[in-house]
Amino acid sequence: MIARNVADLAAHAVFFATFKPCDEIQPSMTLSAAQLDRAILAGLTGSVVQTTGLTVAVAGMPAPVGAVVGISRQAGGEIEAEVIGFRDDRVLVMPLGDVDGVRRGSPVRLIRTSRRLRVGAGLLGRVVDARGRCIDGRPHPMLADRAPLHGVGVAATTRPRIDAALGTGVRSIDALLTCGRGQRLGLFAGSGVGKSVLMGMMARFTQADVRVIALIGERGREVNDFIERDLGPEGLARSVVVVATSNEPAISRVQAAYAATAIAEYFRDAGKDVLLVMDSVTRFALAQREIGLAAGEPPTTRGFPPSTFALLPRLVERAGRTARGSITAFYSVLVEGDDENEPIADAMRGLLDGHVWLSRRLAERGHYPAIDVLRSISRLANDLSTTEEKAARQTLRELLAIYAENEELINIGAYRKGANRTLDCAVDMREEITRFLRQSVDERISIEDVRRELLALATKCNARMAPVAPAATPPPPQAPVPAAKRPTVIKKT
Ligand SMILES: Nc1ncnc2c1ncn2[C@@H]1O[C@H](COP(=O)(O)OP(=O)(O)O)[C@@H](O)[C@H]1O
Ligand SMILES: [Mg+2]
Repeated sequence: MIARNVADLAAHAVFFATFKPCDEIQPSMTLSAAQLDRAILAGLTGSVVQTTGLTVAVAGMPAPVGAVVGISRQAGGEIEAEVIGFRDDRVLVMPLGDVDGVRRGSPVRLIRTSRRLRVGAGLLGRVVDARGRCIDGRPHPMLADRAPLHGVGVAATTRPRIDAALGTGVRSIDALLTCGRGQRLGLFAGSGVGKSVLMGMMARFTQADVRVIALIGERGREVNDFIERDLGPEGLARSVVVVATSNEPAISRVQAAYAATAIAEYFRDAGKDVLLVMDSVTRFALAQREIGLAAGEPPTTRGFPPSTFALLPRLVERAGRTARGSITAFYSVLVEGDDENEPIADAMRGLLDGHVWLSRRLAERGHYPAIDVLRSISRLANDLSTTEEKAARQTLRELLAIYAENEELINIGAYRKGANRTLDCAVDMREEITRFLRQSVDERISIEDVRRELLALATKCNARMAPVAPAATPPPPQAPVPAAKRPTVIKKT
């Protein structure tokens, strides 16, 4: 042990003694990232001096933020931890597992300065944890490639426009909130309103080459429910499921979101159209709150530290379309206490290309999916629709809006037919429109059929709203067609 430490220290010293600032390194001397990693790895060790809540302070080890370290325990083997910050001369790390058995003086070693994930086609059909390890009881697949956990970023100017509509298989979304391939959409609702069931439908029905599903901070029971009931064996076969349940450390819950995004990026960069479903981004934000506060950040709105609001755009900006492929992303946002101005919901609404609000009132009536169409928007819907579809959507929205405005009057019987043609139509067509917006969990519908149904329904509504010609007025006499406008008859010879 002592010999190893001496050797480590020697290597450490040699590395730093020979290290020169970048501009002094000759091309032939340039160190690759891997070499640099290995060189730094050689000497960095430290020891545990304190634990506070979920963080462990390590002395004597200047490891960079984001690095992965291993903490030795007397029993139970080494546990991995991630560097989340510094305080004075101590490095703060957050373990990825149980801290039982960690004591003052436990040795800590640097494992990696950055996180990478093993990826490959072998992940399809598998359930993995935040570190990319299979947790479905089957043997680990051979994975040849590695993807950086935090992505490489895509310049805004190199992103092609989103120009193709994408069928989600959910009628009310495809008809009234049309999505595009590469779009990022949020599903907002309080708890128990049907977010997970709707995400499951979209995960199963959306046309995509690969699906990556991140289940973050859910209860353990919900994970199996989602995989077996909402996704099903057919859905799972083309999916990679990344799981970090609510009982796992905050760092795992945050990393599960990054891991899922990194896997989606890997498939996108291989030319695939990927669907990324994240349930829920709120649990990611709550986990980041734990980490930020533990690292000493000041709490701001509702106790969220600034890092939470800085990481949300970095997470969602990784989805989208690139020249090679696309990541269409659906993020569920848990709106605590059904409060629309809840800070995470508010921040996410501004970051995404559309938001779908689920309404508890609709869910209570058994109207599923409980999408509140009037409060939801897809910022790309108009770019992806024909003029007729836009007009049809407008008609339905108008009818839904006028009905909502007058609902109380209608319910107390104060509505009188004949005063307003649009309201009359909204009342008459209410049942049919509601039937159009409802859908059972197993009903799958193609976007072409949805568009046909939408146009037919709007035509029917418009016909009802059209002013009826007064019966007494005789039809206008047919004016004789001037000779110049008569069609030319070509006689056969
Ligand atoms: N489309 C649906 N059809 C029928 N019942 C549904 C539907 N969506 C949700 N539910 C009911 O609502 C419950 C909660 O849904 P869930 O998706 O788990 O909510 P959330 O994820 O928003 O907490 C489900 O267990 C189910 O009983
Ligand atoms: Mg849920």
